[in-house]
Amino acid sequence: MIIAVDGPAASGKGTIARALAHRYRLPHLDTGLLYRAVAATVLQHDLDPAIEADAVASCGFDDMLLGDPELRTDRVGQVASIVSAHPLVRAALLQRQRRFARQPGGAVLDGRDIGTVIAPEAEVKLFVKATPTIRARRRHAELQARGGTQSFDRVLADIRARDQRDAQRTAAPLVQAPDAVLLDTSFLSIDAAVQKAIDLVEAKR
Ligand code: C5P
Repeated sequence: MIIAVDGPAASGKGTIARALAHRYRLPHLDTGLLYRAVAATVLQHDLDPAIEADAVASCGFDDMLLGDPELRTDRVGQVASIVSAHPLVRAALLQRQRRFARQPGGAVLDGRDIGTVIAPEAEVKLFVKATPTIRARRRHAELQARGGTQSFDRVLADIRARDQRDAQRTAAPLVQAPDAVLLDTSFLSIDAAVQKAIDLVEAKR
């Protein structure tokens, strides 16, 4: 069984994907980390994320980087959304994601284009969303818990900027697959959102 979980930043898709992977004992890939690793490599080498060749040169990043907590920062997330708009960057990361999705026994992948591009054949497709304000509130609380000092308005502006870039790019934009089930987590606790996702998987099995 392949489970595709797509949605914007801080929608809850990562938490839901991890919980589903745990519940169904499936391997999980957070595909955002791949784009974040490209972004971190661009930053490390002082390259320009807006230049496709610079971003492509960073696709051969060291896998050890995937465990680096630095990848989770908003700065890296913003640069990830710039490098991920380049078609050649997406092409460079495609096979790795497809191989992961198609391993025997199945997998859970979360990202922006899993149900549309990486695994259109997925048995279960969830599109997770929440209002920008609620996502910014979650992200702000998360950052504060880690000692961050960014204002709420700054976090909201960043979320909106990233949404816009992810939805408006021509290469694999963030869109709900026609056969994906919409899961709005705006007014759900984490437990309630996970339970809804499990119910949706059960209905498809
Ligand atoms: O999900 P996360 O916030 O970690 O993703 C970081 C950025 O990577 C996103 O804003 C998006 O631009 C890009 N991304 C993508 N396709 C994916 C996963 C992430 O374009 N499948």
